[in-house]
Amino acid sequence: MGVVSSLTSLAKEHRTATAAGYHRCWYPVCLARDLKAGTPIGRDMLGTRVVAYRDPSGNPVVQSAWCPHLGADLSGGEIVDGRLRCPYHHWSFDRAGTCAHIPTGDTIPAAARIFSYPAAEAWGLVWAFNGEQPDFGIPRIPGTEEGAIALETHERAPAPFDTWIAVSNGVDFQHLRTLHGLPALGLPEELEVETGAIEFRIESLVHVQHGRITGTNVFAQHLRIGGKDLFMLFCGAPVEPGRSRGHFVAGVPKGEEARLPEVRAMMDRLNGEDLPVLSAIRFRRGLLTASDRHLARYFKYVEEFPCFLPPDR
Ligand code: FES
Ligand SMILES: [Fe+2]
Repeated sequence: MGVVSSLTSLAKEHRTATAAGYHRCWYPVCLARDLKAGTPIGRDMLGTRVVAYRDPSGNPVVQSAWCPHLGADLSGGEIVDGRLRCPYHHWSFDRAGTCAHIPTGDTIPAAARIFSYPAAEAWGLVWAFNGEQPDFGIPRIPGTEEGAIALETHERAPAPFDTWIAVSNGVDFQHLRTLHGLPALGLPEELEVETGAIEFRIESLVHVQHGRITGTNVFAQHLRIGGKDLFMLFCGAPVEPGRSRGHFVAGVPKGEEARLPEVRAMMDRLNGEDLPVLSAIRFRRGLLTASDRHLARYFKYVEEFPCFLPPDR
């Protein structure tokens, strides 16, 4: 089955990726610490394969991994003179994706290009935007800047669900009590919906929860519980429809690094409780009741989210 027809048939069942592709979001590609200077790495994502490497200034580059010559996997190649060199016949591509050199000296075909994703590094991750230009900024954690906190970033094993379904957890306030056994913390009055993001804030005398969804694949929050601040970011990238790979970031104010294991353990617990439900879910936007109003708003946001089908090269 071709990519488009398989996306279309899954879209009917799960309202996931459509023939128009995947949501135009910033997707995590790999851990920043795994991307070493001089060594490209490959990842299966967005129904295709991408290659990531660092340019001579250390900035990440993310491109289609399929060589336009005969289709070799460019992530098996090398970085030579700052360019990505195919392992097969040594065609070399610059950071814009243009073929800059063919060793035989033959004329370089005008179509010898690979697709370059907008790329960035933040929160210990390398990110790529699924589109030619980003529609909005890199995902943020509310209430902080990256340089202001101590953080640790981790990767999870691929899981059998779409990222936007997992992210619905962020505004599924009921399940915090029913599935996770957390105390009822109330509901936000409103969700603030902006281009490519949703924010909300819940405050009581004893706690603050400031949540932010970026795109349809990132949920981040700042929590203040018992006077202590903690920061979390959960994100994922589609491998193909119905399958995704997750990453997460745990953070605390600088100087409080000793609390990081506790935040990480809390994130592992939440993930461990969500995983069996999300892995078995046959998602449908079913019978929503009054308490699901924020969830309903999120589903509308997802349905209206623009898509892009990354070119294979
Ligand atoms: S397949 Fe890449 S150079 Fe030939
Ligand atoms: Fe959850």
